Amino acid sequence: MTKAVILGTGSFLPDRILTNAELEQMVETSDEWIRTRTGIGARHIAGSHEPLYKVAAQAGKRALDAAGLAPEDVDLLILATVSPHMIMPSTACFVQAELGTVNAFAYDISAACAGFLFGVDMASKYIAAQPDMKVLVIGAENLSTRINWQDRNTCVLFGDGAGAAVLSGAEGERGILDSRLYTDGRLWHLLYTEGPPSMNKDLQLPGWKGPFIQMNGAELFKNAVRLMEGAVKKLLAAHHLTISDIDLMLPHQANIRIINNLRERLAVPEDKVFINLDRCGNTSSASIPIAMDEVAREGRLHPGDLVLMCTFGAGLAWGALLLRW
Ligand SMILES: CC(C)(COP(=O)(O)OP(=O)(O)OC[C@H]1O[C@@H](n2cnc3c(N)ncnc32)[C@H](O)[C@@H]1OP(=O)(O)O)[C@@H](O)C(=O)NCCC(=O)NCCS
Repeated sequence: MTKAVILGTGSFLPDRILTNAELEQMVETSDEWIRTRTGIGARHIAGSHEPLYKVAAQAGKRALDAAGLAPEDVDLLILATVSPHMIMPSTACFVQAELGTVNAFAYDISAACAGFLFGVDMASKYIAAQPDMKVLVIGAENLSTRINWQDRNTCVLFGDGAGAAVLSGAEGERGILDSRLYTDGRLWHLLYTEGPPSMNKDLQLPGWKGPFIQMNGAELFKNAVRLMEGAVKKLLAAHHLTISDIDLMLPHQANIRIINNLRERLAVPEDKVFINLDRCGNTSSASIPIAMDEVAREGRLHPGDLVLMCTFGAGLAWGALLLRW
């Protein structure tokens, strides 16, 4: 049966690293608090020479190189982000121009931390209809541009970066097996970023808090564990699989306590879960593709390995995806 297979992966992290020690100088916090409550030790921050489309394009270029493809080979470019370069046009169009994917059509999708899985799911459905299509899916964020650096509740959590995968159709066992994706818009208020105030005064929202991430951390925490657990169990059950069939789990990198809680509930051994949150923080839509690229380049993935990805974020949007590497 034809499946969407990953031909190559890539990622990019800006050089500038912001440590917890530096954050101690900026807000009332401590390295100890951040590490024990979140598992984060440092995060990468984009500089003025690294607008989002350049960060995204670097990851995309590395994925194309890994796949042995030229930019002209790409038919579709999907960019998942919640920190776009502009409101209009899509950041995907800027990435297209930067990369030279002149034969592709390109668009953004917005599903926050679930964005990459939503993009891969979409790519696999295009590929099911047209197996020779080459689809570049990128998750990229410059969340540092959406953070209130005086708000200790949020500024310690997030980081910048991008991850990417190129997919196309192939016969056989390898590829995207299935995914389960969900949203619940009733819970939008747990995590959101307002845009700039409307130019139409009649349509301005009352109590505008600025274009920064607003978050109810404790409620998100509970929902994250519960919702990812449900998505993973449904996905595995649909394929008559159990956790012991999984070779590697790539969870969204938001908080080590969320990951450990989920791991314990699902009974996943610690050595089967990849963590880079200590170095990268929460990079939202970029988190899973950066992790996937790192494990691929470290040689931790072998042909035939069963990889489980799961994610949650603003929307709320969440889901799980199974991939035979
Ligand atoms: C944000 C989070 C780390 C907070 O951890 P927590 O154990 O739930 O901590 P609490 O919310 O109970 O806050 C405890 C105290 O720490 C304080 N605090 C918050 N951030 C702090 C920081 N950076 N440094 C020091 N203290 C901090 C709070 O103000 C609160 O103080 P108070 O009791 O005087 O009001 C945790 O809730 C979390 O990770 N939630 C999920 C967030 C997430 O993943 N968001 C992205 C989703 S994709």
